[in-house]
Amino acid sequence: MRIDIVTIFPAIFDALDVSLLGRAKQNGIVDVRVRDLRDHTHDRHRTVDDTPYGGGAGMVMKPEPWGEALDAALERTDDPVVIFPSPAGEVFTQSLARQLSEERHLVFGCGRYEGIDQRVFDDTAVRARVRLVSLGDYVLNGGEVAVMAMLEAIVRLIPGVVGNPRSLVEESHEDGLLEYPTYTKPPVWRGREVPPVLLSGNHGEIARWRRQQQVERTRRVRPDLLDED
Ligand code: ADE
Repeated sequence: MRIDIVTIFPAIFDALDVSLLGRAKQNGIVDVRVRDLRDHTHDRHRTVDDTPYGGGAGMVMKPEPWGEALDAALERTDDPVVIFPSPAGEVFTQSLARQLSEERHLVFGCGRYEGIDQRVFDDTAVRARVRLVSLGDYVLNGGEVAVMAMLEAIVRLIPGVVGNPRSLVEESHEDGLLEYPTYTKPPVWRGREVPPVLLSGNHGEIARWRRQQQVERTRRVRPDLLDED
């Protein structure tokens, strides 16, 4: 998968070189290109923002550097998806992560300040599938950290990235429920015992217990997940 990221803070993405994402990069599973938005400015101060038309607080990112940077990212590609992280977007879910993990080319545009000139979205939508995506109902200072989170969720779903594919199936959100609690050795730690059913060797009982734990935990912590359908 090819991944382009447009940002005014390229250094934040140095962290992509470690851990699972780093390995996926080294193995050639993902080809990541981080692009500095300021390389597409043409004034001495490398200006990327300006005051909003109509007044109001904060600054808006100018369309010209974005236009150029996205032109470069979208050169010689076919059917890319361009994602702008934004608290005004659709909510990022495991299902969206899975959908995006099947794409060939993702472009992420990290906005800062009060947002990006609307014409950038409109202009990009003519050439690519554009999605505004929010991590959740809170406001970050910019899209960079949101993109790191999305990338971690997306890239681990690409076949060959996570060693044991079964671990992808048995985790929170894959079946609409939260994950069951997990335990490892020793059987007693600080007086706390592992639930005996897990030591029983009875796989049917273990599966039933785990399911029950998932439903209970989901009902307690995230009842909204049970309401949905
Ligand atoms: N940028 C600022 N806040 C955000 C959020 N909640 N999700 C994604 N991108 C953002």
